[in-house]
Amino acid sequence: MLKPLYLDKNDELVLLDQRRLPLEEVWLRLRTPEEVAEAIKTLAVRGAPAIGIAAAYGFYLGVKDYKEAAREEFLKRCRYLRELLGSTRPTAVNLFWALERMMSVAEYPVSPVHKIINKLRAEALRIQEEDLEACINMARHGASLVPKNARILTHCNAGALATAGYGTALGVVRKAHEEGKVELVWVDETRPLLQGARLTAWEMEKEGIPYKVICDNMAGYVMSKGLVDMVIVGADRITAEGDVANKIGTYALAVLAKHHGIPFMVVAPTSTFDLSIKKGSEIPIEERKEEEVLCFAGKRTTPQKAHAFNPAFDVTPSELISYIVTEKGVLRPPFAKSIKELFS
Ligand code: MRU
Repeated sequence: MLKPLYLDKNDELVLLDQRRLPLEEVWLRLRTPEEVAEAIKTLAVRGAPAIGIAAAYGFYLGVKDYKEAAREEFLKRCRYLRELLGSTRPTAVNLFWALERMMSVAEYPVSPVHKIINKLRAEALRIQEEDLEACINMARHGASLVPKNARILTHCNAGALATAGYGTALGVVRKAHEEGKVELVWVDETRPLLQGARLTAWEMEKEGIPYKVICDNMAGYVMSKGLVDMVIVGADRITAEGDVANKIGTYALAVLAKHHGIPFMVVAPTSTFDLSIKKGSEIPIEERKEEEVLCFAGKRTTPQKAHAFNPAFDVTPSELISYIVTEKGVLRPPFAKSIKELFS
């Protein structure tokens, strides 16, 4: 199974550079928290759970040489690391969730600093292990809802690359395929950065799962032709009432799915829930550089003076969602109630 990032025995973070896929499989070795922050910002590592895991390792890399530090100096360093890694991408809550887990270990009272550093290493490894386990459980729960001969449409990449391994939405697809239920996966290209065409297609190819790439604007057509049985996507943040932030374009797919009576499934671990907010409108949406829209594969495709708007995520309101699948089971509407029960 593909493990897109790991801490190696020299305490370096090794990760598959997702900017270069599918043309080249290049593994980066990161040694400092600043390098990890840059990798997250530039999408060398991406996908909500994976950036949480990377941030946890980045945090550890930033303290591992502080064994001799006094407690105050050590905690000051930890606060710097939380700020550095937490200011990389604003939307996926897994990033902040992982950093808070690291901070609460760092602040553990009275332990000597060198012992806390060992605990921080163990915590980062645990965050990754738990995510893999969550993916496997989500896959099991989600696959039970996939009909026979399913033609599934997915958006962006919520696969092994976006997690500790196996994937959220693509974990469900993998499991359903193993069970012989997948006829075809429609892979949305996912402009502007092509996470679907580059990454999801790459994963489908490796697994031998039948797929076809479509441009984002073809989804309505394939649905109207009766060629889609289910839409399955991941999430970057889910509110207490079940509104879901995910890759830009997800909302339009949910509206289309509702119009065509197609079940719309969101698959995400409990680390993606943000119970401090109720409404999707409260989720901070990352806006990225306009060049990502103005260019295609590094080449300018628009007039020199053109400007662009580039929100990286949108919000799908809970009423458009049929199921939210977590590692603990399947949530159904009304989500405000089922989410409350899940976390109580
Ligand atoms: O900008 P990205 O590529 O990090 O966006 C990723 C997504 O929107 C994924 O669908 C989401 O993080 C879920 S990944 C399991």
